[in-house]
Amino acid sequence: MSPAASAVPFAAIGLDLGGSSIKYGVVDQAGKLVESTFSHATTPAGAHPQAVAEVMAQIISELQQLTGSDLFGVPVGVTVPGIVIDGVVHSAANIDDAWIGLDAVALLRGQLNREVSVLNDADAAGMAEVFAGAGSFAGAPIPGSTLVLTLGTGIGSAFFRDGNLFPNVEFGHLEIDGVDAESRAAARVIREENLSWDQYIERLQRYLSHVEFLCSPDLIVIGGAVSLDHEKFMPQLKLRARIVPAQYNNAAGVLGAAHRAMNH
Ligand code: BGC
Repeated sequence: MSPAASAVPFAAIGLDLGGSSIKYGVVDQAGKLVESTFSHATTPAGAHPQAVAEVMAQIISELQQLTGSDLFGVPVGVTVPGIVIDGVVHSAANIDDAWIGLDAVALLRGQLNREVSVLNDADAAGMAEVFAGAGSFAGAPIPGSTLVLTLGTGIGSAFFRDGNLFPNVEFGHLEIDGVDAESRAAARVIREENLSWDQYIERLQRYLSHVEFLCSPDLIVIGGAVSLDHEKFMPQLKLRARIVPAQYNNAAGVLGAAHRAMNH
C-alpha cells in the first residue's frame, strides 16, 4: 500500500437496498465496518430507482458530515434485491419494476459522483459471511459448497464453491408445492401470518430440505434479522448440511457491498 493510500482512513462505502430500509456504512482500509457509521434510512415508498438514488445521495452527505471527511474518491458498493448482471438489474421482486433493465451503475454513478459497483443483496451478504464471517475459518472461506440464505422480506441466496461465488442464484423463487418459496418461508410471513415458531419451522424444513436436495451444500449460513432468534428454530431443523447463523446479521449486505467496491 502506498503512503498516500494508507493515509486515507476510509476505503469504501456500502449501501444495502431493501424493501423497507437502506442500510449503510463505511469500511476502513482493513475492510472493517466503522461501527459509528453503520445506520439506516427509510426506503422511499415503492423504491423507485430515482427516489432511491436521491436518498442514497443524502446518505453520502450524512456520512461526510459524520466522518468529517469529504470521502473524495471513496467508491461505493450498492446492493439491489434482484438479479444484477454487469451493473444492469434484471429482476425486482420487492422493489419497483422500473429497476428491471435499468443500468443501475450508470444511474448511481451520476447521482453519487463516484465509482459505483452494484450487486445482488444476498451475494453481497454471502461474500461478507464467506470471506470473514460464519462461512470462514481463520480468515479464509471454508472449503466445499456453502449456501448463504437471507430470510427477510424475500429469501436471498448466495452459493459458493471453495469461496468462489456463483452469482445471482435465485433459490428464493423455487416453486415448491405450487407456490413461490419466499411467499411461504421468508421471515416476513412469521409476522404477516402470525405464525408460531413450530409453524415456521415446518415451512423452513420443507424449503431447506428441497434446496439441500438440489445443490447438496456442506454448510448453510442463515442470515437476515431472524437469525438473531436462531436458537428458537435452528436446532430443530433436520438437514445433512451443517447449519449456522450468520455472523454479521443486518450489516452483512453493507460489508459485502463495500468489499466489492474496494476490490473493483
Ligand atoms: C430477490 C432476490 C433477493 C432476495 C432478498 C428476492 O425476492 O429475487 O434477488 O436477493 O429477494 O432480498
